[in-house]
Amino acid sequence: MSNQSQPASANSMVEMVMDSTSGLQKFKLREPKGSSAEIFLYGGQVTSWKNERGEELLFMSSKAAFKPPNPIRGGIAICYPQFSNMGSLDKHGFARNRVWSIDPNPSLPPSKDNTVVNLLLKPTNEDMKIWPHSFELRLRVTLEAGKLQLTPRVRNTDSKPFTFTLAVHTYLSVSDISDVRVEGLETLDYFDNLLDQKRFTEQGDSLTFDSEVDRVYLSTPASLALIDHEKKRTFVIRKSGFPDAVVWNPWDKKSKAMVDFGDDEYMRMVSIEAAAVEKPITLKPGEEWTGYQELEVVSSSYFSGQMDPVNLKVKS
Ligand code: BG6
Repeated sequence: MSNQSQPASANSMVEMVMDSTSGLQKFKLREPKGSSAEIFLYGGQVTSWKNERGEELLFMSSKAAFKPPNPIRGGIAICYPQFSNMGSLDKHGFARNRVWSIDPNPSLPPSKDNTVVNLLLKPTNEDMKIWPHSFELRLRVTLEAGKLQLTPRVRNTDSKPFTFTLAVHTYLSVSDISDVRVEGLETLDYFDNLLDQKRFTEQGDSLTFDSEVDRVYLSTPASLALIDHEKKRTFVIRKSGFPDAVVWNPWDKKSKAMVDFGDDEYMRMVSIEAAAVEKPITLKPGEEWTGYQELEVVSSSYFSGQMDPVNLKVKS
């Protein structure tokens, strides 16, 4: 077993265990302040992120099927090599329903602490039949106090160029969808998936929810904020390498139509996804693309009602 299954330091831990309910393998991470995360090899999917008080910060449906080949409904999934139905593959591509492996050669500088998991997905012969491109998709997940960082990377290991789209499909847990708002999208253009992907411009001061929302916001800033009034909690979503941001809530009708989603669960989640969708990424042989998404959870008193552009800058 790699050193990823060893205690990383006296108070932090990375271990691989079998999930007792599904029988699937997962990593459990804990950092010295006590926050924790879980990542399944199936889908390379983060399924849990808890603060130091043990409160879950990600949404996971009570009806989520942890049964291959179904995608897991909740947490953080990687949509690759295609977001949505824009290409010829199944919706959101196949990375989310493949078994990833431990990356033997992550080739990224070590993180300052060791609460890190490095995963790798390579296409099988069967995958090559539906998407005939050889690649290495890497995912580094790093847990720090109050922060969860995901670094996906795609390398072209083929002899010809290929093009892909990718989204970090993140389900955030909220107290009540009617009482949250997203800041940072004001005045931006978006494609509305509910209106044949027509292009509109965001008119509101911030985005609130009173019906189904399914949008791809374009050329978005490096930081967005999801403010949860009831919980007095703000998620800051920082990203780089991802020009777009998807915002999704299925609302009541679509919730009922999804077999792996509870009828009322739309009230307790919102998906905000760092994404590269509008302009697909092309890699020549040997080239690599890197994206980054960081989630930080902070007390809402940190904000004075508006995002503070100084404090919300992406860390270099
Ligand atoms: C979002 C899309 O990213 O994912 C929505 O914008 C989609 O259109 C949602 O409905 C869930 O997709 P799926 O395939 O997991 O049901």
